[in-house]
Amino acid sequence: MSKSAELKSRKAAAVASGVATKGIYVVKAENSELWDVDGRRYIDFAAGIAVLNTGHRHPRVMAAVAQQAEAFAHTCFHVAPYESYVRLAERLNALAPGDFAKKSLFLSAGAEAVENAIKIARYYTKRSAVIAFSGGFHGRTLMTMALTGKVMPYKRGFGPFPAEVYHAEFPQPYRGISVEQALSDVERLFHGDVDPKSVAAIVIEPVQGEGGFNVAPFEFLRALRRVCDEHGIVLIADEVQGGIARTGKMFSIEHSGVVPDLITVAKGLGGGFPLSGVTGRASIMDAAHAGGLGGTYGGNPISIAAAHAVLDVIEEENLCARATRVGQKMHTRLQTLAKELPCIGDVRGLGAMVAFELVKDPKTKEPDAALTASILAHAEKRGLILLSCGTEANVVRLLSPLTIPDAVLEEGLNILAAAVKDACGVESARAVA
Ligand SMILES: Cc1ncc(COP(=O)(O)O)c(C=O)c1O
Repeated sequence: MSKSAELKSRKAAAVASGVATKGIYVVKAENSELWDVDGRRYIDFAAGIAVLNTGHRHPRVMAAVAQQAEAFAHTCFHVAPYESYVRLAERLNALAPGDFAKKSLFLSAGAEAVENAIKIARYYTKRSAVIAFSGGFHGRTLMTMALTGKVMPYKRGFGPFPAEVYHAEFPQPYRGISVEQALSDVERLFHGDVDPKSVAAIVIEPVQGEGGFNVAPFEFLRALRRVCDEHGIVLIADEVQGGIARTGKMFSIEHSGVVPDLITVAKGLGGGFPLSGVTGRASIMDAAHAGGLGGTYGGNPISIAAAHAVLDVIEEENLCARATRVGQKMHTRLQTLAKELPCIGDVRGLGAMVAFELVKDPKTKEPDAALTASILAHAEKRGLILLSCGTEANVVRLLSPLTIPDAVLEEGLNILAAAVKDACGVESARAVA
């Protein structure tokens, strides 16, 4: 029995079944590659679900963490605060879009950041309702499950959810949902379900992650900004997956020129260490009373040290530009593949957040979740880690570290092409030619 197989059966016996995993038990990882317990090497196109924008164990991040561990590992910011937290807030306040005073707070998980953004928006507006979007994903806590617009695997069986959450359509040109339709869906909510004057916040991922890498058309984001301004609603950009240089800008909403009131970040910020945050207008961020926000581990010193190194690396290694180049290479390769294979219905994304959608028939666009799962399995056999996404589980997403060397990226894309062809039943020798 391989070590992986043995661990798989131990996991099945010891770990709650709701915690789904791949079968790759890692022992070592470096930049864009990792090795499992059986000595197999994998190219990592998942990056810990968009966390390792700066790669596994970036030397700058590791050195910062080691240095911090020598000084202190935890005090709780509420008990004995530290300068590095304050300085990270200053850095994010300066980086976030908007020519106004900003403030930040730090937490641990992405879901906590979204929870806190909603708490802050409610306190500030003295309103309770929140509008989110179909296909959106915001986390696995109760409020963020309520905000999430994807039932499986996130919502089934876990209700009831907090009240006063409403969902509008997210525009999806490939699925025939235009910007106009999506905007009229928000109006529909205002007429049929919730008074806009009761809405505290509209929360949106400028590029949907779990929902299928759907890029919100910029005109849609601009229109939402106008809706929020008209009704005094707080606009929250959930940048947990799309932020921190992933799309070619520090925050994905910057592509649209729209300035949100609050931004949630996590994943890439900590470079592999748990850290999330909310950054936004000081007037809104300051609404809540002292003690109302925070938590025991929020802004843990080790994670904060990692985040400073991550921001330094993004700047010094020009990772925003690198994200654009990595994304272009992925797009070009996928578009070539799509011309050959009608099962690839759509190739989309922004920067190095790239995905392709699998369909049974390009005309009917019927989602093909089985083919998607097969592509992932073939890729894994060939040594490439991939993730799926999409409300119908029929989208393959590419999220390599932005620091991936060109040769490894090329190798990964070759494996990807071969895996798609394996899954489609096309001779694989031809696939890698
Ligand atoms: C856009 C978005 N928001 C929130 C979350 C939740 O983050 P976490 O899993 O760290 O709680 C995620 C996680 O994938 C995400 O993609």
